[in-house]
Amino acid sequence: MASPKKLKILFVTSEVVPFVKTGGLADVSSALPQKLQELGHEVRIVLPKYGAVDERRFKIHEVVRLKDLTTTIGKKEVTFSLRSSFLVGSKARVQIYFLDNHEYFGSRHSLYSDQQTGKEFKDNDERFILLSKSVFELVKKLGWVPDIIHCNDWQTGLIPIYKKVLYDDDELLKNVKTLLTIHNINIQGVFPKTSFQKTGLPEEFNNDKELLLNGKLNMLHAGLKYADAISTVSETYAKELCKIPEASAGLRDDLCKRKKDFFGIVNGIDPLVWNPEKDKKIHKKFTVKNLEKKFVNKEFIEEKFGFDYDENIPLIGMISRLDDNKGFDLLKKAFKELMQLDLRLVILGTGDKKYQKFFEDAAMKYSDKFACYIGFDDDIAHQIEAGADMFLMPSKYEPCGLNQMYSLVYGTIPIVRETGGLADTVENYNPSTKKGNGIVFKKYDEKELIKTIKKALALYKDKKAWERLMKTGMKSNFTWLKSAKNYVNVYKKILS
Ligand code: GLC
Repeated sequence: MASPKKLKILFVTSEVVPFVKTGGLADVSSALPQKLQELGHEVRIVLPKYGAVDERRFKIHEVVRLKDLTTTIGKKEVTFSLRSSFLVGSKARVQIYFLDNHEYFGSRHSLYSDQQTGKEFKDNDERFILLSKSVFELVKKLGWVPDIIHCNDWQTGLIPIYKKVLYDDDELLKNVKTLLTIHNINIQGVFPKTSFQKTGLPEEFNNDKELLLNGKLNMLHAGLKYADAISTVSETYAKELCKIPEASAGLRDDLCKRKKDFFGIVNGIDPLVWNPEKDKKIHKKFTVKNLEKKFVNKEFIEEKFGFDYDENIPLIGMISRLDDNKGFDLLKKAFKELMQLDLRLVILGTGDKKYQKFFEDAAMKYSDKFACYIGFDDDIAHQIEAGADMFLMPSKYEPCGLNQMYSLVYGTIPIVRETGGLADTVENYNPSTKKGNGIVFKKYDEKELIKTIKKALALYKDKKAWERLMKTGMKSNFTWLKSAKNYVNVYKKILS
């Protein structure tokens, strides 16, 4: 069957900027649908309406047809509604449906875990079974049938199997295809075997040959197995997932079996949100033509973090989930030695309790050199990108990474480890050819990290070379256009 030129795409995700964000998935879930729509396709998004979503600000309204729908989770009957709003960009207006259920989503501010205890919600299985099932109820009620349901991460992992088991013979839905994109393979949505009953799927799937993995319900595994195609967010990372057993966190078989239908497409960035010329969240806007204003931003963020401003001491920024995969074990090992160097470091992020504690203690001990903000704050994220001289991402694995691209366009030189999307977007600066846009190290080792940071500090002293490097980064073009076209090619491949 020839696929239509203009595709209908239902994009299902657990976070979207500006409504809710804990990580890069939210940026992608906002920018990619807009770009696809700009390219002439029809995109709609489904997102849970957590307590944190501001109903008034985003003018989320009721849709009569989508009110008080019902489904079952195990034996429990659950009522939900889908409410509607728009994601408004410069050129595209993308319809977004909010899955509204007070018990599972509305009554809780945070997305996946209890803010107080840091523990994952006990009923995350039920919450995301509901998200997956609601998608089909939405389509049936609207009579708007997508060509593709584009799923993202474990939270949407059951959608492909629901499609296959429940709707492959359904006149309306039988031709719908599914793509699952992996943004984070380490969080898989793993639940005890007893959770299988809650899915409502036939008992013949309740084993390791079908849905389960190691005797457990693993929603990401389910998605990788039953989606029509799978993808991840950079080419290098796609290769690493198949090559390095540790990288795939136990899902290597799933990926290797599907090599033919497994694609790597690098993320882009949204130039409306991340652009120092237009960014309302930063202290002073700037361009390549008035780089001195970048230092006004440096002064601003240094003061915000409690430092006495000094233009000549390089400021390194980090914005990240605090976990091993992002390289925080290296940073912790290197920390003492780094604190002897002539630099300042600021970190914004949350994550592993052990790192939160380590950095909070370190901030007291080295208050003239180090500061952190444990939490997430989008304004501060923009201000760090604008004010820092360098941006550090020593990741062990990095599916794509967005901050290195944000850094480049803000004239903030990325220092990264060569892995995943970092390898695809940052090229090591070569002083003799003057090629490259950042500073890259290969070996995952704290000595390498220290050596590389020292190299960056030395280069920073060469004002001319540094400025050239800043300008190279600021001129880079990370638009979504090419990547969105690559997604369309994948959709079309699945449909043909
Ligand atoms: C996850 C990954 C990150 C990627 C983002 C968006 O947060 O860790 O590398 O850029 O998803 O795809």
